[in-house]
Order: sequence, then structure tokens, then C-alpha cells
Amino acid sequence: MEKLTITTSFTVYASVNELPQDVAALMEQAVAVRKASYAPYSKFHVGAALLLENGQVVVGSNQENAAYPSGLCAERTAIFYAGAAFPGVKILKMAISAAAEEKVVTDPIPPCGACRQSIAEYELKQDTPIEIFFMGEEGKVYCSDSLKNLLPLTFGGEYL
Ligand code: THU
Repeated sequence: MEKLTITTSFTVYASVNELPQDVAALMEQAVAVRKASYAPYSKFHVGAALLLENGQVVVGSNQENAAYPSGLCAERTAIFYAGAAFPGVKILKMAISAAAEEKVVTDPIPPCGACRQSIAEYELKQDTPIEIFFMGEEGKVYCSDSLKNLLPLTFGGEYL
């Protein structure tokens, strides 16, 4: 028997003011699209902005539904749109911002498990890491160099 230890690490920025300029601009787009998200049920609004290798920015926000499981998270809305509109173009960075209607979200809000799995598919396919920056409405911004830090022991197509 042996014990397997997996370490993961994140860069922590004290606020958006510390971000590199290109990432701050991407986060601004995530915030803008977050404000237009459709979240009448949870009242929790999430925006995601992706920077593609061709310089294009693709955005997405959470889209809820009265039949709750039919809704979709911001990250998957954005990543599926990128896959549909720009097939074969690598995704380099993802910025995520989340806000609630009834409180100020200061914790960095990471992508949910299903979004992590979906992002993993694209990272594995393009064989280039996706840098993921996530925050609440204000406060710290966490950065993961790759989806792998958020989802160690990733399940991918190579197992099939
Ligand atoms: N949500 C996202 O958009 N991304 C996540 O990674 C976590 C959750 C959305 C889904 C739902 O519309 C609302 O936040 C509350 O769960």
C-alpha cells in the first residue's frame, strides 16, 4: 500500500487592481456579462469571459430555468459557445465573477464540479493549459494556471 499525495496551488491577488492589465480587462467583461445573467430563481449571477488564442473574447452568463436542472452555468455557456463558434481555436484564459442579489460576495467563487469537467475536456483537447481567474463581486481573485489544479485526477477520453 502507498499513499498518493496531490498538491495543488493558486495565485492569490488581493483585488482586481493587482491583476495584469489583459486579465483585468477580461474580468471587466465577465462582470459586464454577469450583470445581464438570467438568474431569477437563485438570484446568484455569474459571468465568464474567455480569451481565445486569436484574440477573440467569448462571454457567457448563467441561464436558469423554471425546471431547475435545465439551466446552465456561466462557464459552460461560454465554453460551449467558444467550441461552437470557434472550433479548433485554443482557449487561453477564463475570468469568472459571481454576485448575489442579497449580499456582497467577497469569496472567490470557483467553477462547480460539472463546469470543471467540461473545461477539462477543452483543456485536454487543445493540449494547452487554460488559466482560470475567479472572484466574487469584490475582493480577492484566485488564479489557477490550469484546470488541473481545480480537478486533480481528471477523467478524460484517454480512459475510454
Ligand atoms: N453557477 C454558475 O453559473 N457557475 C458555477 O460554477 C456555479 C453556479 C450558477 C448556476 C445557478 O444559476 C446559480 O449559479 C446558483 O447555483
